[in-house]
Amino acid sequence: MNEGSLETANPSDVEMPDSSTAARHASSTSRANPLEALAESLRHFRQSQQYRLSCYVLSHLWILKIVFAVLRAVRPAMRVGNVLVVTKAREVREVLERFDDFVLSDSITPGMPWGPFLMTVDWRGQHDRERAMLQSAVEPATDLAAIRIIAADVCRSRIGALAATGRIDVVADLAEPVMVRIFHDYFGVAPLAGDEKLMARAMRDLAGIIMVDPPVGSQAWLNSRDDMVGLTRQLKEHFEAEKAGANHASRNSPPTLLGRLLRRHDASGPAWFDEDWIRRYLTGLIATGGATIVRATAQAVDQLLERHDALQRARELSGRLDLAEQGRPPDVAPCRDALRQWIYEALRFRPMLPLLVRDCPRDTIIANGTPRARLVPAGTRIIAPPLAAMFDADAFPDPSAFRERPIESYFHFGFGPRRCFGKYIADIVMLEVVHALMRLQGLARAEGSAGQVSYDGPAPCSLVVTFEAGQAGTAQ
Ligand code: HEM
Repeated sequence: MNEGSLETANPSDVEMPDSSTAARHASSTSRANPLEALAESLRHFRQSQQYRLSCYVLSHLWILKIVFAVLRAVRPAMRVGNVLVVTKAREVREVLERFDDFVLSDSITPGMPWGPFLMTVDWRGQHDRERAMLQSAVEPATDLAAIRIIAADVCRSRIGALAATGRIDVVADLAEPVMVRIFHDYFGVAPLAGDEKLMARAMRDLAGIIMVDPPVGSQAWLNSRDDMVGLTRQLKEHFEAEKAGANHASRNSPPTLLGRLLRRHDASGPAWFDEDWIRRYLTGLIATGGATIVRATAQAVDQLLERHDALQRARELSGRLDLAEQGRPPDVAPCRDALRQWIYEALRFRPMLPLLVRDCPRDTIIANGTPRARLVPAGTRIIAPPLAAMFDADAFPDPSAFRERPIESYFHFGFGPRRCFGKYIADIVMLEVVHALMRLQGLARAEGSAGQVSYDGPAPCSLVVTFEAGQAGTAQ
């Protein structure tokens, strides 16, 4: 367990590296000695190439697919140095479910410099308490419908505004604006400096540093530090406004997640549940919840566009859902499940998180009772890739086929105590964005590089599609 999560800290005390520190350090080194400056430049160059390569490998996935297919065939639990890679679905799931034997904090803490968050807590009892606290702020009976309305509204108005052009960016015009609105209306966090584009960039930067650590002093690193400072300031203002009863458009509006957590905090609670906890957890949710949905949606749409039959089927399922939403049989729920399963299948070919990482704190055995059983010594880092698991023929028969599969078999949201907290939001947003797109006649990839997913670090920043111009695209 990371001790820091029990400490009370003032948000203004949080160590936020000054953006200019690295630049100052670099220039003072170069003034000191030209050889040192050259060595420093070479180090920066090597680090930035490594960063680019990691972002590429984690986003384009063809290299990982080949490596995992070979490993699964020849050595399904392969050790290289102190790294163990498991490529069978059974073992990937085992690693994710064994919370105490395979821990997360060491590998993820550097990517979460705003302070302890659910994912950095390795003490099972405390993790469960903090997760339950967060969960207690969610009111499924009303929240799911509210999130769906926000997502559908934003899609309708954005597509409506661009209908005449016959061209829309799935990332910048749809998925990002949906998430910025959800953070505002549902979480209670307004766009940074009132600027939706800046907030979208902050979502990308913060998700980006969790996935791939950028070199210190690089633009991605500097941006992420600026975002944390901006978010911390903004959250403090929100806290004050909530306390003064002035926040949220109207006092009659349902309270946001932030408002609910602050009320619970006022009411009493454990010592660790203070305002700084709320700041850290909201920052964590923005980091884990914004660009992740955007990345998953863009990558799923990309895979549907890649396959004519799969795209046609998605349009069919979407049409059925339209009818069900108008009150015609069958019911809405099975129609949503069918479209969601199709989205999960698309995402299987380009998962949002292709790899998950754990560390082994003490000697243990993995795959016990199978011919693949192996001793895992303390100190081993384990790579448990959902990408490998979802192409294991034992769990996903005929893995190269795009087809219907049991929805609970997918690895997209993890398993066990660390399964995704935000799945309820992701499921709705992905479905609403894909549903809105599938209604568009003549939907296709834009020509050239615009029609491919492009990335800012590991977070997508664009995927342009075209459709028959002039349609409303908003019918429901
Ligand atoms: C399609 C979008 C998403 C995908 C594919 C996804 C995937 C995942 C996965 C695989 C894990 C487990 C990580 C592990 O075991 O190491 C996870 C955990 C988590 N996710 Fe998501 N996620 C998504 C969206 C979200 C959203 C929208 C939020 C919040 C707003 C969120 C918050 C979290 C949190 C807090 C955890 C850590 C849970 C814990 O440690 O107990 N995620 N997610």
